[in-house]
Amino acid sequence: MSEPLTIRCRENGPLVLPAQFKIVDHQGNEFSLPPGKELIALCRCGHSQRKPFCDGAHKQVGFQAAELARPAATA
Ligand code: FES
Repeated sequence: MSEPLTIRCRENGPLVLPAQFKIVDHQGNEFSLPPGKELIALCRCGHSQRKPFCDGAHKQVGFQAAELARPAATA
């Protein structure tokens, strides 16, 4: 069984994941992944001009996000 996909939340930045996925728009059309990249950064600040991909705009707008994962609650 393969490992689950890991999406890494960069501190004050994008979501980064291995370039082994496809992403589609609300009509089901596929976005082209940037060629030659092993990792893809997806915008989570809302300011990229290349959505859904990060273009570095999060730095200019002072995007803040440093949430930490918490252990799942046990029943
Ligand atoms: S997270 Fe980088 S431009 Fe939005």
